[in-house]
Amino acid sequence: MRHNHIVKKLSILGTTEIRGLDLSEPLDDELIAEIKDLWNKSGGMLVFRNQHLTSQQHIDFSRQFGIPFGSPEGVPMQDTVSRYLHPDHPELYCVSNKVDKKGVPKGRKGAGTYWHSDVSFREEPAAASILYAKQIPSVGGDTLFADGTAAYEDLSQAMKDLLAPLYALHDFAVAAATQYTNPFVINDDLDGANKALHPVIRTHVDTGRKSIFVNPGQTSHLDGFDQAESDALLKFLYEHMTQPKYIFRQIWQEHDLAMWDNRTMMHFAIDNYGDDPRYLERVTLMGERPV
Ligand code: SIN
Repeated sequence: MRHNHIVKKLSILGTTEIRGLDLSEPLDDELIAEIKDLWNKSGGMLVFRNQHLTSQQHIDFSRQFGIPFGSPEGVPMQDTVSRYLHPDHPELYCVSNKVDKKGVPKGRKGAGTYWHSDVSFREEPAAASILYAKQIPSVGGDTLFADGTAAYEDLSQAMKDLLAPLYALHDFAVAAATQYTNPFVINDDLDGANKALHPVIRTHVDTGRKSIFVNPGQTSHLDGFDQAESDALLKFLYEHMTQPKYIFRQIWQEHDLAMWDNRTMMHFAIDNYGDDPRYLERVTLMGERPV
């Protein structure tokens, strides 16, 4: 990184912290290329500290890396989350336990409190998610990230060969059944548009590295297997991926902007802060069909 930006490794997995960069202004092409390169080298996990961004500046920063779900050129995320989108910025998904004076939620409470990869149930799932911490509880509210690339690379060759031709079904109905309460699930979301078969091992379009691409929150089963067989193999993969050595724990500081790659990792938001206010806004960038 050029000039006086300070770049520091936060974990053995490559997670990288960047200080001294002001993301509120447009970046030049060279700097965008440097950030992309650093992001890929970090395994897909960058944390920019001490950012002071309006919602629009957060969106503008994110658009330099792709097309957001909910933007005029993009497609919306599933309808069920539409009630948690920012009233003035449909590109922003609000994550919060706060309510306004009328008791209306300011965001989705308990969003992402399970292992998942954002929007994995679409034919073209999310690439980056870019989450900006505007208010953080005094303790708790960390987010865990599991590195699916490191976990893949440590598998035996025999297991890699077994997994290589497999596909898994990702289905919003899995998350809807466990994470969303009726009547807040919009039934149209369950009619097929949020269901997709993806390779269990996907290859990153920029780095060529392979990652395990299944997650307990949204993957229903391995294609062609009996449910019991599928459950056993997926259970092994989930236990393997979530070993402490593959986990980065993001202990949020106010004004952090975290940018992660949903193609290489899954995440889990820890809901352990009660009513202590927490408010974050997320831009989710559309990705390509996994191969
Ligand atoms: C999410 O994007 O899944 C929410 C993450 C968080 O609240 O930390």
